[in-house]
Amino acid sequence: MSDMLNIALPKGRLGDKVYALFEKAGFGCPEVLEPGRRLIFEARDAGVRYFFVKPSDVAIYVERGAADVGVAGKDILLEYAPDVYELLDLGLGRCRMCVCGKPDLRDDPRRTLRVATKFSKIARDYYAREGRSVDLIHLNGSIELAPLLGLSDVIVDIVETGTTLRENGLAVLGEVCPISARLIANKVSYKFNYPAVTAFTARVREQCEDAK
Ligand code: PRP
Repeated sequence: MSDMLNIALPKGRLGDKVYALFEKAGFGCPEVLEPGRRLIFEARDAGVRYFFVKPSDVAIYVERGAADVGVAGKDILLEYAPDVYELLDLGLGRCRMCVCGKPDLRDDPRRTLRVATKFSKIARDYYAREGRSVDLIHLNGSIELAPLLGLSDVIVDIVETGTTLRENGLAVLGEVCPISARLIANKVSYKFNYPAVTAFTARVREQCEDAK
C-alpha cells in the first residue's frame, strides 16, 4: 500500500471549498489551485494525493479502495448506500432534500402520488416511512419540469437557495432530510492505514470546529 493518503474530492464548487478546508488543516498542495485540467495532484511533504472526480462518483472510488478517503454529499450516501465509513460531517454544501410541487397542489392521500426524482431510493424510503403509495418516475436532471408538465404531482429534489423552485413557480411542500458534505473512508484503509486516516480526520475536525 502507498504511504500517501489518497483523497477523492468532488470536482466543482464543493470540491474547492473542501480543498480550502483541507489546506487549512495542513494538507495543502499548491498545484491544485493552478488553472488547468489535471485530475491528480500530489503533495509529498503533506503525505496526500488528491484526485478530482464527479461528485456522484466519489463514493465509488472510496468503496472500491481507489481512494482511502473522500468527500461525498449525504444525498449520495443515502441514495447509493456505499459500503464505507462516514467519519465526519464537514458542514459544507449544506442544503435540504425536499418534496416540492405547485403551491396549490391538492393532494388526496388515498391516491397514489406520482413522484419524479433523481433520488429514487431516498424518495422510496421516505414515502415508505410515511406509509404512502407512490409511482416513482426516475429522471436524470431538470426535475422541476415534471410537475410543470403534468408528468408528476411532486418532485423529491435538492433545494439549496430555492432559486430554481422560485423561478419555476414551485414551492417546498415538505422536508425529507438535511444534506451536507461528509468525509468518508474505505473500510480496509481505515483498518490498515488507521494512523494516517485518523490523524487526517482529527486535523480536519479541528478546522471544522474552529470554523463554527
Ligand atoms: C440542484 C437541484 C436543483 C438545484 C437547487 O441541481 O436538482 O435543481 O440544484 O438549487 P437552488 O435551490 O439553489 O436553486 P444541480 O445544480 O445540482 O444540477 P442537476 O440539474 O444536475 O441536478
